[in-house]
Amino acid sequence: MRDLVADTRVDVRDLIAPLFVREGIDAPIPINSLPGVVQHSVESLRREVGELAELGVKSIMVFGIPEHKDAVGSQSCAADGVAQLALQQLRADVGDDVVLVADLCVDEYTDHGHCGIIDEHGNVDNDATLALYAAAAVAQADAGAHMVAPSGMMDGQVAAIRAALDSAGHTNIPIMAYSSKYASGLYGPFREAVDVTSAGGGDRKGYQQDWRNGREALVEVAGDIAQGADIVMVKPAVTYLDVISSVRSAVDIPVAAYHVSGEYAMIKAAAANGWIDGDVVALEQLTAIKRAGAGIILTYLTRWFAEGAGGLR
Ligand code: PBG
Repeated sequence: MRDLVADTRVDVRDLIAPLFVREGIDAPIPINSLPGVVQHSVESLRREVGELAELGVKSIMVFGIPEHKDAVGSQSCAADGVAQLALQQLRADVGDDVVLVADLCVDEYTDHGHCGIIDEHGNVDNDATLALYAAAAVAQADAGAHMVAPSGMMDGQVAAIRAALDSAGHTNIPIMAYSSKYASGLYGPFREAVDVTSAGGGDRKGYQQDWRNGREALVEVAGDIAQGADIVMVKPAVTYLDVISSVRSAVDIPVAAYHVSGEYAMIKAAAANGWIDGDVVALEQLTAIKRAGAGIILTYLTRWFAEGAGGLR
């Protein structure tokens, strides 16, 4: 009877699995701070996506980790950059059966670890970075991505990407914008996952949002929608349920939320100590994110959920 009257159900079709692919390796490398998550080789990524598809997971997101990083993150837009090569193979493998989302940013590709080009004062140059994002979007769509997801929080990024995609003939590629992304302490394990080591790249308060500001999220979301965003995202998720909820009431397009690396790692670490029941808390958090209003959830728990959520569903 409780099932009958429950008003929120998480479904495997709500979930997007974030996956990492690293250039120059031939076996997966575990990520210490994200137990159960790995840096894939292109081959192991292909196997993983095949297995996820069998389990009913219909959407994945690819992050690339290049062998060589440079000041402008050039591998983010190279036709033979690791993410593009992986997308090409995946698209050949899955066709349109799995939605291939490409995370669109350059912090995994820059040697300083910032999400953009650095000017002579050490600040991220917003407008110079837009051209880079535009080129990366076209490279990702050319490689077979079904959707691009700009995560760099540069002003004007959605408009720049939309224009670039359209003029390259990719008018059918939607944009899932990381619209309201906070300068959170919860991205730590992700930075290990993508080998962002530099101290400078760690402070992103210049372009990510201040967690003291809730209303600002609506300004960011409205700006992205005006520029052509098809889906808007709030990130992180559990610490920002109020933001998810107010975005959900403010817009009529799909709302996504990213249950980020630190949120996942906290569950795993406490569960490993026997301090919480990890399966229960994981399902509780995913349900809370959906209840708050996110119909799409990016989560490292996707495979676990698809496999039955520890027997809880
Ligand atoms: C930036 C990006 C970040 C994540 C995804 N894309 C965060 C950052 O600013 O370091 C975080 C995802 C996570 O923590 O799981 N390109």
